[in-house]
Amino acid sequence: MKPIQVGLLGIGTVGSGVFNVLQRNHDEIRRRAGRGIAVTMVADLDEARARAVVGDQAKVVKDAREVIANPDIDVVIELIGGYGIAKALVLEAIAAGKHVVTANKALLAVHGSEIFKAAADKGVMVAYEAAVAGGIPIIKALREGLTANQIQWIAGIINGTTNFILSEMRDKGLDFDLVLKEAQRLGYAEADPTFDIEGVDAAHKVTLMSAIAFGVPVQFDKAYVEGITKLSSVDIRYAEQLGYRIKLLGITKRTDKGIELRVHPSLVPTKRLIANVEGAMNAVVVHGDAVGTTLYYGKGAGSEPTASAVIADLVDIARLEGADVAHRVPPLAFQSSTLREAGQ
Ligand code: HSE
Repeated sequence: MKPIQVGLLGIGTVGSGVFNVLQRNHDEIRRRAGRGIAVTMVADLDEARARAVVGDQAKVVKDAREVIANPDIDVVIELIGGYGIAKALVLEAIAAGKHVVTANKALLAVHGSEIFKAAADKGVMVAYEAAVAGGIPIIKALREGLTANQIQWIAGIINGTTNFILSEMRDKGLDFDLVLKEAQRLGYAEADPTFDIEGVDAAHKVTLMSAIAFGVPVQFDKAYVEGITKLSSVDIRYAEQLGYRIKLLGITKRTDKGIELRVHPSLVPTKRLIANVEGAMNAVVVHGDAVGTTLYYGKGAGSEPTASAVIADLVDIARLEGADVAHRVPPLAFQSSTLREAGQ
């Protein structure tokens, strides 16, 4: 079978991780995917930066639309971020019949319904394992591993920047602003760090998990969002003395009145595993009626952890491409509407 051909839009931290891991683990990935996966085209405004990563292994262009227009490209990976140009390019890639892999939680949390519908109409896949909790395969866990369950609730530390800030403030008594600068230097923070510290990034991610777990549309606008900017070192110290850690949690829950969707600082008893998740690490707790409580832990950001998730999506697409659309495993929000339309 011919290799699946991939076009990469944006080759910064995550894009270079994708390229490097695909090169390094080429044989294992080909075996698991059942065919080769090759990044053959890269678009980046900084062509020199892109060439430094890919050498002569892939064609480098400045204009992302050249990638989308190339009939040989099967999958477009969108790593540009944000809602603007990224949305236009994702919709254009879908319209051109390309499968899309994205790490763009903001885009999907706000425009996911439109994007998933466009993909369903066109019969292509939109995969986004890297959009939530970086390297932790939480989308796959919710969609596949826990598919027998009625999910009751999900609670997670899903923003590494804020967890890093809270940990450093507690352990080293450091100032909020100083630790935020360090998180930016380490590459954890979003381009606009207010998304991290005001809870917006975590709300994007919990919105996506909620849609998958409960089969509801993505509805970021319904989330209650509160970040960590009002917390001081004194709050953190008092919480410790009372036997609690302050964690920024993203929570979604099935209730009699509907689905709760919220992000806010929470007091977590120090004896709980999730209270001891430190630094930029992420952890997600999922409670299902059959399985009980499960915990997923790992790196929520960074070049290769996020690349690990992007490549998992590429492998899924390589395996499923050509399969009957109805037998693919799409996001549940998209799946439930498909099932209703099919009268099942
Ligand atoms: N800014 C995000 C975080 C990056 O701190 O978790 C990964 O989504």
